[in-house]
Amino acid sequence: MADPWQKAYDFAVEVAREAGEEIRKAGECEMKVQTKSSTVDLVTKTDERVEKIIIRALKGEFGDGAFIGEESVANGQPCVLSDKPTWIIDPVDGTTNFVHGFPFVAVSIAFAVNKELEFGVVYSCLEDKMYKARKGKGAFCNDEPIQVSDVEEIKKSIIISEHGTDRRKEVVTKIFSTMQKILCIPVHGLRGSGTAATNMCLVATGAVEAFFEIGIHCWDIAAGAVIVQEAGGVLMDVDGGPFDLMSRRMVSANNKKIADRIIKEIEAFDVTRDDAP
Ligand code: IPD
Repeated sequence: MADPWQKAYDFAVEVAREAGEEIRKAGECEMKVQTKSSTVDLVTKTDERVEKIIIRALKGEFGDGAFIGEESVANGQPCVLSDKPTWIIDPVDGTTNFVHGFPFVAVSIAFAVNKELEFGVVYSCLEDKMYKARKGKGAFCNDEPIQVSDVEEIKKSIIISEHGTDRRKEVVTKIFSTMQKILCIPVHGLRGSGTAATNMCLVATGAVEAFFEIGIHCWDIAAGAVIVQEAGGVLMDVDGGPFDLMSRRMVSANNKKIADRIIKEIEAFDVTRDDAP
């Protein structure tokens, strides 16, 4: 049987590329920065405009489907993953990087049916790297197949995590305590690109062994989730349970051994689920 979502997958790649072009152009102009959930959770007119461009293009091609978009949710749209074919969009992943000119910014577009991710596209637009993966069909960067690293020993790994946007002292203390414990295993290094989507693609290419974060949203990681899995990696919850896209907690790794070792060190803190009523 022909792949029912191939056309949507190809179209998402085109749309991500156009969105990335908009972001690159906008990065050269003066920008007005506003804040959302906290003073360090930034948003620009570009985030909102690019999300509208993406949704308009997808609706134009495929009609009114279900959409979960970072900026639409910020403006009051529901964030519920139903069984309907659903587009999950982060127009500018790495908004803080974008505002500061730190050169990692990604467009992230994923597509789920019956709550299962079918494909993901991450366009790291300042590096001009197009990552994509379709369930069961492998993962690619600029059309070259990609694969996670084969490192099994945590002491030979590089791990990525982020500081997120929650600056409550107890949360920051747990984030740094976790990072300290992981660094002192010891691992070769700790990194962070400032975009969850790109971090997951770095796991998928084998540049790092794992990326974990508590506090990310479904739109930051949905596309990356397909890319990591199709590149041979694993996704788990930070307590070792199954990965839950809406839980705002995730460990992505090249293999379960590395994921399990990191999970031992993670000090979790409470976050409100993306689909909380
Ligand atoms: C953020 C980035 C960042 C991660 C934050 C996200 P945004 O997304 O992915 O790496 O640490 O948790 O919110 O706001 O730039 O789309």
